[in-house]
Amino acid sequence: MREFRSLNLAWEGKGRVKEELTADIREVGRVNVNPYIGIRTYYDPVDIPMAAETIQNTYCLGDNLTFLRHPSQWMGDTSIDLIYIDPPYMTDIAYNSTINIGSDHDRDTVVRPVFNDRWASGLAGYLDMLYPRLCAMRDILSEQGSIFVHLDWHTSHYVRVLMDEIFGMDNFINEIVWCFGGGGNSRRHFHRKHDTILWYGRSPDYVFNPQFRPYTPGTLERGLTRVKGDRYHLHQSGALMQDWWTDINKILSPTAYENLKYPTQKPRELLRRLVEAASPPGSLVADFFSGSGTLAEVCSQTGRRWLMCDSSRLGLQTTIYRLIKNGTAPFRIIAPHPWQNPPGGELILKKPQLSMFSRDHLLVDLGIDYFRPIAVRDWEREQFSKYIEFWEIDWDYQGMFNSCCQVIREKHRYQGPLALDILVKIEAGYSRRVAVKVWDVWGNQTMEVVDVQI
Ligand SMILES: C[S@@+](CC[C@H](N)C(=O)[O-])C[C@H]1O[C@@H](n2cnc3c(N)ncnc32)[C@H](O)[C@@H]1O
Repeated sequence: MREFRSLNLAWEGKGRVKEELTADIREVGRVNVNPYIGIRTYYDPVDIPMAAETIQNTYCLGDNLTFLRHPSQWMGDTSIDLIYIDPPYMTDIAYNSTINIGSDHDRDTVVRPVFNDRWASGLAGYLDMLYPRLCAMRDILSEQGSIFVHLDWHTSHYVRVLMDEIFGMDNFINEIVWCFGGGGNSRRHFHRKHDTILWYGRSPDYVFNPQFRPYTPGTLERGLTRVKGDRYHLHQSGALMQDWWTDINKILSPTAYENLKYPTQKPRELLRRLVEAASPPGSLVADFFSGSGTLAEVCSQTGRRWLMCDSSRLGLQTTIYRLIKNGTAPFRIIAPHPWQNPPGGELILKKPQLSMFSRDHLLVDLGIDYFRPIAVRDWEREQFSKYIEFWEIDWDYQGMFNSCCQVIREKHRYQGPLALDILVKIEAGYSRRVAVKVWDVWGNQTMEVVDVQI
């Protein structure tokens, strides 16, 4: 293989740098996951430390190249143990997400644009996007680190050549074939029912924890010893996995619990297998095209620290929602300064009402009086809560939104009642500013601040 070391993929304009070379990356918010569904009589804020040193998880909001080009600004000299990316595939699709909101007798359909996988200058434009990002990812991987690049038939063959060039052919580990079912209607070729996941190490010292699959009933019945002789025994955990997987399906059902209506969302089981195979617990795992945040959830469940990045506002909103439902340690959100959220809407808060709780504590009744999302023209004021996906509260707003509690619907994400009031137990003694942030179903944020005078 060595004689091919200098083989490169060439296209016109390769290596040109179009993006900004300077950036000022700052923290723009924090989320301390603490869900409220409106059935408790009052809410007692839990004092989870939110000091900078306790924050181990980060969400990078914006174009990943900005963060990848300036890692020292936001991650110091830390390196990453594992990167998984599921970038655009050059499918020529502008992805939308369609949802139904409201009640059975007052249902609206909302179509939300998510991301665009159309490339004006074709393959060259696509490779121009991917190439500098893959180079920068290699530079922030630890010596024992590795990277999974998830693609399909559109570009996996080109990207594999590019990966050989960037990471070195000798650092190629596996080409994993993920097979899935589901309908297809072509009579011109076989249905395309697999994705390709390219796995490369930063060096030959990459981490690999072997994964196992259950033995087939036939093997269990016979026992391996009968087939292969006395040296072989059935392993307690099952058989060692091959590089083609048929046991995890795509998220096909629109009503599946896991389905967050984010187009291209990957199943947790798939990412869990990759994470468990290639990183030890406690390590730092990153996804620079994180979409609905599947990897963040998997990391939280398997004891890894995480780092997500996406440029889509629906990506951030869906990730926060996913983590509120499934739990994670506090995380910070960072963005290039000055960060401008797209316009949200009009939010009017109720005047806070105070009552005595005890000698040292008060109850504050906080609530939303009115919200009008920017995306809606004709609407009825009484129905405004159906446009709210969830809302968050910062009990002690100091200029950067520090989400202490998130109000969500009890069962369904977009249907059923959403609490619009919350009773909060606070320490008597000092006045404060409380901020409320509403996330509408389009992924826009609207924030208002109210003074609580004691
Ligand atoms: C295929 S989806 C990822 C889906 C994800 N694996 C999941 O399970 O939900 C690709 C994502 O890349 C994001 N994206 C595309 N270009 C980007 C860029 N330059 N910087 C950051 N995110 C980007 C899109 O917004 C989209 O969410």
